[in-house]
Amino acid sequence: SYKACLFDLDGVLVDTAIYHFQAWKMLGENFNYQLTEEQNEQLKGVSRVESLNRILDWASYSATEEQKEAWLKEKNDNYLHLISNMNPSEILPGVVDFLGQIKAEGYKIALGSASKNAEIILEKTGLMPWFDLIIDGNKVSKSKPDPEVFLKGAEGLGFSPAECIVFEDAQAGVEAAINGGMKVIGIGEASVLSDANKVIPNFIGIKSADLLLF
Ligand code: BG6
Ligand code: MG
Repeated sequence: SYKACLFDLDGVLVDTAIYHFQAWKMLGENFNYQLTEEQNEQLKGVSRVESLNRILDWASYSATEEQKEAWLKEKNDNYLHLISNMNPSEILPGVVDFLGQIKAEGYKIALGSASKNAEIILEKTGLMPWFDLIIDGNKVSKSKPDPEVFLKGAEGLGFSPAECIVFEDAQAGVEAAINGGMKVIGIGEASVLSDANKVIPNFIGIKSADLLLF
C-alpha cells in the first residue's frame, strides 16, 4: 500500500494557474500574440523556459537567446507581482483537511512541482509545515512529462515509486507520474486527464481512507 503522497502545487493545492496564464498573456503582448485557454492547458506543469519556447513556437516568432532571457525575467516579474498578495484563503477547497488526515495516518508528504517559485507560495499560503520534502523547479533539470521531479520525491522520502501516489492537475504531470511508475490521481476534468488512474474534481470530501481505493 501507499506510504507517501506527492503533490503538484499549481492547480492542485493552490489556484495559481490563473496567475501563470495572466502573466503569459501579458508577455505575449510584446509580440502581439494572444494566448488561448486551450493553449494554456498545454502549458500547465511545463517549466518556465519550455513554456516560453512553446508560445514562441505557436506565435511563429524566432527570438534570440538574449531576448528569451529578458522575456523569461519579464514573465516572472509579472507573475511575482500577481502572487504578491497570496494568502491562505487561496488554498484550494478541501486541501488542508485532506493533508491533516493523511498526516495523522502517517503518510509522508512531498511536493513535486516544476515551479521555481514554489517555496514563496508555500510560505505565503502557510502550507510549508505540511511538507516532509520539497522538490521544485530549482531541484530538477527535466520538465514534466519527464518523471525526474517525482522520482526525486520518492527517493528523497526513501520509498519506491509503487509506494507513492501523485496528485496532479496537468496532462504533463499525469504523464510524468505514469512515466515514473506511480499511481496518479487527476484533479480536474476527466476529459482532460484521461490517463490518470482516477480523476476527482477537487479535494472536497476526500478521505485518507479513499487512498486505499485509488
Ligand atoms: C508549473 C506550472 O507548476 O510551474 C506552470 O503549472 C509553470 O504553469 C511552471 O510554468 C514553472 O513555474 P515558475 O514559477 O518556475 O515559472
Ligand atoms: Mg499543476
